[in-house]
Amino acid sequence: MSAPADNGVGTGVRAPRRARIAERTLRTDRWWLQPLLTVLGLSAFIIYATVRSFVRTAYWVPDYHYLTPFYSPCLSTSCVEGSSHFGHWFGDLPGFIPLGFVVLPFLLGFRLTCYYYRKAYYRAVWFSPPACAVAEPHAKYTGETRLPLIIQNVHRYFFYVALIVSLVNTYDAITAFHGKTGGFGFGLGNIILLANVVLLWAYTLSCHSCRHVTGGRLKHFSKHPVRYWIWTKVSKLNTRHMALAWTTLGTLVLTDFYVMLVASGAISDLRFVN
Ligand code: FES
Repeated sequence: MSAPADNGVGTGVRAPRRARIAERTLRTDRWWLQPLLTVLGLSAFIIYATVRSFVRTAYWVPDYHYLTPFYSPCLSTSCVEGSSHFGHWFGDLPGFIPLGFVVLPFLLGFRLTCYYYRKAYYRAVWFSPPACAVAEPHAKYTGETRLPLIIQNVHRYFFYVALIVSLVNTYDAITAFHGKTGGFGFGLGNIILLANVVLLWAYTLSCHSCRHVTGGRLKHFSKHPVRYWIWTKVSKLNTRHMALAWTTLGTLVLTDFYVMLVASGAISDLRFVN
């Protein structure tokens, strides 16, 4: 958690002992490009995911048991036949409630409170600050020590739910090895679903909270060799967290888009077995 700056009357670049520089920044490179790309990338994902979550069409391929992650788990009687892998926990849902409503708030919460995304949208959306050596427009900075940003601390709990969601997605990917006439089947959709779930696991396990869960609060690594070994692996994965954050946004969209195309009949799944 970032502590608020304690610089007297002004904070940040307006702090009493900071040099008085009139320009907002002395940088001459295209420092605005990365925040701009971040905004565009995140906005595109949010718009796509929101639209797809509400349309309630083309999310399940009955022949091959492909289910898009945006509708998993589908726990309502409004879900099309066969798509409710974990049964019906709820009756019919009105159209304004997404069929994946059980999991969507947690998925959204996990991403929104992710340390990497926080850095990205603090810079790109709140300009706090927009980039290194570029003054932020805000007069003061209170950090994550009070509402609303103190809520970011629930990230560790979202992490536990994300583990369950990854298990659900894994189950979906395994049950999708289904042939048109029953039994085992294998197609391009399986490769996409599987790649997506592997990358989702990599993203989830590379979480900073996972590092803390596996190796945090230990005074002597030598007394906990197993936890230390796991922690070193998670830490290696953690160095790729930003890349995994973006990659999994892409694979989620790709997976959903592919399932949508096959389910709607726009394309046929490329089948290798059955
Ligand atoms: Fe990014 Fe936990 S820090 S998912």
